[in-house]
Amino acid sequence: MTRLYMAGCGGMLGQAFFEEFRGDTDVRCTDIDVNEDWLEYLDFRDFDAYRKDVLAFSPDCLFHLGALTDLEYCEAHPDETYATNAMAVENAVYIANELDIPLLYIGTAGIFDGRQELYDDWDAANPLGTYARAKWAGEEFVAKNSTKYLICRAGWMMGGGPRKDKKFVQKIMRQLRDGSVSLNVVDDKLGTPTYTRDFAHNVRLLLERRWWGLYNMVCQGATSRLEVARALVTELGLDEVVAINAVSSDYFADTYFAPRPPSERLLNRKLALRGLDVMRPWREALSEYLRTDYSGYLNRP
Ligand SMILES: NC(=O)c1ccc[n+]([C@@H]2O[C@H](COP(=O)([O-])OP(=O)(O)OC[C@H]3O[C@@H](n4cnc5c(N)ncnc54)[C@H](OP(=O)(O)O)[C@@H]3O)[C@@H](O)[C@H]2O)c1
Repeated sequence: MTRLYMAGCGGMLGQAFFEEFRGDTDVRCTDIDVNEDWLEYLDFRDFDAYRKDVLAFSPDCLFHLGALTDLEYCEAHPDETYATNAMAVENAVYIANELDIPLLYIGTAGIFDGRQELYDDWDAANPLGTYARAKWAGEEFVAKNSTKYLICRAGWMMGGGPRKDKKFVQKIMRQLRDGSVSLNVVDDKLGTPTYTRDFAHNVRLLLERRWWGLYNMVCQGATSRLEVARALVTELGLDEVVAINAVSSDYFADTYFAPRPPSERLLNRKLALRGLDVMRPWREALSEYLRTDYSGYLNRP
């Protein structure tokens, strides 16, 4: 692979993909949010514009990375969500098939209903909310219609640092930076963190081996929001200063009104059986993430 087209590359995961692949491949990175000088504007919902841009670059592989990722926004805007997270993926499939190149799609652990504690690559999806339904529709379309594809499923994403991280770590870090000494964290949500840098590297290994198909791809070790928050506070040396209060999801029902499964824990069974699982334990990944991306971020002595 020497030429890679990365669509929707301006977010948390796109940053890691750019860093992973820019050194030894020609990359073209696009997004609707042009927040870097290495990004160009492209709305992948516009099939003609998407096709024209990818064909002009003539890549060896198409990475369709982007999506709407705010679950509450998706719940409130179903048409926009299906157009972005499902139908734009159909665009990517048509384009990759026309060029006869492989397609990478990013799936989500959120497609399960949470009745099981742990899900491997062969468990059946049953998406609960609009975001999850649209992402699952995208995944199914890729699996049924792509000639060559990788679907890599991520869990609770960690990456991008203060500027790009929109998820749990950043939400906790912002509260700490604002001087909070008491955090309310849910104790009824189970999942698996996913470090964007390890994820991008693991994708590279699959591409090199050309082992197409579906792979769960999360950090080692199933956990919970509460445990991640505790590990984060410990890692920052704030155990004596910051109290963590366990609350149920009902506490945040107004803010986080989109349905979420009680468990979205993934197991990388296929990657492990292939001998190709390089995803590190989540505590190790969290520690590295905080050191590399959040050093000096907190206004604390
Ligand atoms: N974040 C997670 O916890 C998580 C978990 C599992 C799977 N995933 C999947 O991982 C992938 C990457 O997500 P991420 O975590 O990097 O989220 P992100 O930081 O929100 O990045 C997604 C990027 O896609 C862009 N985008 C949205 N609509 C677009 C369009 N029509 N055309 C082009 N670009 C568009 C977004 O722009 P705007 O910011 O302007 O919307 C954003 O820059 C997504 O497919 C997501 O579903 C994420």
